[in-house]
Amino acid sequence: MKISIQKKNKFQKTQVVFMFQKSFPKELKKQKEIESFIKDIGFKGSKKESFFIPSKSKNLLIIGLGEKKFFDYEKIRKIAAFSYKELKKQKQKTADILINSLLSESTQNLPQICQAFTEGVLLTSHSCKEFKSEKSKEFVVKELFLCLDSKDHKSCLKTMREGTILAESVNFARNLGNYPGNCMTPSILAKSIQNKTKNTKIKTTVWDKKRIEKEKMGGLLGVSLGSLQEPRFIIMEYKGSNKKPVILVGKGLTFDSGGISLKPSQNMDEMKFDMCGSVTVVGAMLAIEKLGLKVNVIGLVPSSENMPGAGANKPGDILKARNGKTMEVLNTDAEGRLILADALSYASEKKPQAIFDAATLTGAILVSLGNLFTGFFTKNENLVQRIEKASQKTGERVWRLPLVKEHTKDIKSILADVANISSTKGAGSSTAAAFLEHFVDKQIPWVHFDIAGTAWNVHNRLEYCSAKQASGVMIRTFVELVRSYES
Ligand code: BES
Ligand code: ZN
Ligand code: ZN
Repeated sequence: MKISIQKKNKFQKTQVVFMFQKSFPKELKKQKEIESFIKDIGFKGSKKESFFIPSKSKNLLIIGLGEKKFFDYEKIRKIAAFSYKELKKQKQKTADILINSLLSESTQNLPQICQAFTEGVLLTSHSCKEFKSEKSKEFVVKELFLCLDSKDHKSCLKTMREGTILAESVNFARNLGNYPGNCMTPSILAKSIQNKTKNTKIKTTVWDKKRIEKEKMGGLLGVSLGSLQEPRFIIMEYKGSNKKPVILVGKGLTFDSGGISLKPSQNMDEMKFDMCGSVTVVGAMLAIEKLGLKVNVIGLVPSSENMPGAGANKPGDILKARNGKTMEVLNTDAEGRLILADALSYASEKKPQAIFDAATLTGAILVSLGNLFTGFFTKNENLVQRIEKASQKTGERVWRLPLVKEHTKDIKSILADVANISSTKGAGSSTAAAFLEHFVDKQIPWVHFDIAGTAWNVHNRLEYCSAKQASGVMIRTFVELVRSYES
């Protein structure tokens, strides 16, 4: 799937135009017969209303946008998704898009419209089909052409390129997320990252089990002991500036069975998505490098399986993290925090400007926020503003949840420094964040994002993501966050 600017006089057979509620698009004003036709059929321009008008010389697909006053760039991504699906339904391989018909008071910036449309279409066209033995015969839309005045070409080309980089990085990361546990082990994840970053400015280093042991990463090593698969610790370095780094950390649990505290079998297959935090980091690193952001960035991925093999952690076991703190494993299913403990300790040693982590950490976040919002936790008020700004730009919704000293008290252990589950009921996502906080240097601004509700498209909620597949959530927001450190 490709998206480009329409070349002069090289029109496609099909044209797509958008119409706000009860306001006929001025792009079609010269075509009186269409205006009266649209009136006759009662087309109102309501949200997701569409009509395909075929004709010998030219087809027209008209798509409703709903009310003008509630319009924004995220709605454009969603409209792009809808347009793509409608064109597919109508079996149109190519089409011209009258992109100016998306201009409104709240969406005045044409380059930004083009970027949002590009992202929406490319994110929608992705779906993981690698495991089907027969090649798909599904109809595919091949190329869309945005119709623009020549004076807008340069600025829009730039943002369309940016949108393409972002969407392609997300789609690559989604594929890693979609692979089942037998095809995506810690060593395969590490190899995939090494291959993908080979000819880029990202330097990837992979630590094996021996090195992890030597580096005193007792959490990562401990969690991996119940599995035949060895753990990996993956370091990606991109030096876009000489300043202190911004560090991104992602949970890379390639399969979480729960370990000895085994999970129930219903929906356990979804635990192949437990490495979606790591794909957030990989996707963001790839996009940051391609965009050439002037920031020093390090991506860290602790990766392991969580299995109930003979060597597995037993409830009550005590592990020692890299920063020397001891962790009592009261529930082996709360393993994400154990491997993140080492990664966050290592990140803190680098004295970064900030640390952002993404993890499918708790089922509790699904209870509080469902699959609409990613929950985040921080004690740094400045970072809250940065996050809200970034999320507004990307349309990825976030919601701040509390992290206070009482949560820290809840995870006290009798024998060790900290217990991996709370001693009280409720607030499971906050107590998980309080656990992670033990491993971050107090001086370093840090945010934890719990993506357990948003990392895959559970109920087909996200228009530009295939159902039951990895969503690639927070990649674009992480890129924006890193961009905010450019000086
Ligand atoms: N990977 C899970 C969290 C999860 C649950 C992600 C459901 C997506 C959907 C994590 O390792 C886990 O099992 N957490 C436990 C923690 C509990 C034992 C304190 C949970 O949320 O149940
Ligand atoms: Zn678990
Ligand atoms: Zn997990």
